[in-house]
Amino acid sequence: MTKDELERRVRSQKWFHIMDLGHGIITPGIMNPIGKEHGPRYHVPASLAGKTVLDIGAWDGAWSFEAKRRGAARVLATDSYSWGGGGWGDKRSFELAREVFALDVEDEYIDVLDLSAERIGTFDVVFFFGVIYHMRNPMIALDHLRSVTAPGGLAIVESLSAMNRRKEPLLAFYPNTECGGDPTNWFAPNPPALRGMLQAAGFSDVTVVSPPDKFSRMALYAR
Ligand SMILES: C[S@@+](CC[C@H](N)C(=O)[O-])C[C@H]1O[C@@H](n2cnc3c(N)ncnc32)[C@H](O)[C@@H]1O
Repeated sequence: MTKDELERRVRSQKWFHIMDLGHGIITPGIMNPIGKEHGPRYHVPASLAGKTVLDIGAWDGAWSFEAKRRGAARVLATDSYSWGGGGWGDKRSFELAREVFALDVEDEYIDVLDLSAERIGTFDVVFFFGVIYHMRNPMIALDHLRSVTAPGGLAIVESLSAMNRRKEPLLAFYPNTECGGDPTNWFAPNPPALRGMLQAAGFSDVTVVSPPDKFSRMALYAR
């Protein structure tokens, strides 16, 4: 693909992730989840050598591609809402980035609530970044997350948070567009709530690895 052709294809699509495609071309997304500002929050291990990785709700796939660069043996990126055009983009952005990076990242169009070990298997490391607060039934979603995390594996859950100073487990509920004007933002947990929800879904060892930051985002390890 020539630089002009790449530029044309990048411009013809909408992007969520800011990614450097080379040739001086940066995708015009709204956030770079790997970069200095946001990247450290996710606490993704520096090496994923030999691991199987599932990226649930991958959107443009920045973390799926990064998992492959960090040595993952196999990466499966999944999504439904954004890839199906429910948001402002579709799956073509993920596909273009994969083509440019020439990385062996698999993909499957699948809803969180259809994830199961029978359907896709289990994975050593599961990314669940920025998805839980889009779930109308968050506990059921976490049951599905548990079902695709291998025994002894690690799920990393990154989320919007709310009521961060409160010690008791609490979930904020947004019936309309109260949260960022986005009607698909339903709930924001505080850290004790998300920790308890992950335990209730069957993870026995849950740790808050990134307490809520200036963006009101947090991350937890669940094993
Ligand atoms: C805020 S974006 C997060 C994207 C990426 N994981 C990140 O952290 O940068 C939320 C993603 O969850 C996906 N999503 C929302 N509801 C979903 C569902 N029911 N099943 C699968 N994916 C879903 C959206 O399509 C979108 O790609």
